[in-house]
Amino acid sequence: MINKVAIVGAGTMGSGIALSVAQSGCNVVMFDVNDAVLLKASKTILHNVNKLVEKEKISREIADDVINRITFTNAMSDCIADVIIEAIVEKLEVKHEVFLQLAEINSPTTILASNTSSLSISAIQKNIPFPNRIAGMHYFNPAHIMKLVEIIRGNDTDDNTIQTLASFAKLQQKTPVICSDSPGFIVNRVARHFYLESLKAAEKGAADIKVIDEILEATGFKMGPFKLMDMIGMDINLAVTESLYHAFNETVRFKPNMLQIEKVKNGDLGRKTGKGFYLYNNV
Ligand SMILES: NC(=O)c1ccc[n+]([C@@H]2O[C@H](COP(=O)([O-])OP(=O)(O)OC[C@H]3O[C@@H](n4cnc5c(N)ncnc54)[C@H](O)[C@@H]3O)[C@@H](O)[C@H]2O)c1
Repeated sequence: MINKVAIVGAGTMGSGIALSVAQSGCNVVMFDVNDAVLLKASKTILHNVNKLVEKEKISREIADDVINRITFTNAMSDCIADVIIEAIVEKLEVKHEVFLQLAEINSPTTILASNTSSLSISAIQKNIPFPNRIAGMHYFNPAHIMKLVEIIRGNDTDDNTIQTLASFAKLQQKTPVICSDSPGFIVNRVARHFYLESLKAAEKGAADIKVIDEILEATGFKMGPFKLMDMIGMDINLAVTESLYHAFNETVRFKPNMLQIEKVKNGDLGRKTGKGFYLYNNV
């Protein structure tokens, strides 16, 4: 039975996952090393809950309960839970270190899940005590709305962990899909080309980014690639591309594009910094 869930990393994904989990009735503790991020996460969650009330998806009473179920902390020692979902930077060494620390303070029955978009779950599991309870649980952005969740089995993950996470996703009204541990899993591997081909087209002057977004939206995509990269975060999107590029032996198909590299260098990370391919005034 899952009662308490800890979310490690309160950025774009952590905020959405926390709301999704709290709506399923679990208590949530959100941890981040950055106090400003925690404050922003609490505001974002409140804003998103209020939007659900406005759209009459939930009542005011339920919204208040959901908000009251989420607490915020900058102390990792508070991350003692039945399930922990990690949503920090897309860097293997940093994630691995955090998993080691979480494994040390939690019981061997606690499930440790990573929201990584592309990194190897088997690599994260390496040298962590009880690697059987480690898996990938990959939500999509915005996590409190998008239904799909990829559940990733690493080399050492046991069946009970996979089944528990799949049930936990269903409890959140999500659709879990179980994937093997290959670079980018399913969606991010396929979606790389949506971003990279669009970047190449813009770079070669085939069309303006706004036009490319409009054309692809007209063909049925909910969001054009440049709007989507702004929503994902340029740094995260580039890190995922780099991860696949290396995992596939530097094949040119996955080569990061200079346009995104420049954006990251300039700190134009998208919605979260107020500027990416477009400008935003919601920071
Ligand atoms: N952005 C997306 O659309 C998206 C979608 C699916 C999965 N993901 C994955 O989710 C993860 C997080 O992405 P994001 O977009 O939320 O990133 P983000 O940059 O918005 O947030 C990351 C957060 O992690 C915190 N952090 C960094 N190191 C930490 C540590 N050691 N301990 C605790 N907190 C730490 C940072 O302070 C930051 O608040 C990544 O692995 C990414 O690949 C992202």
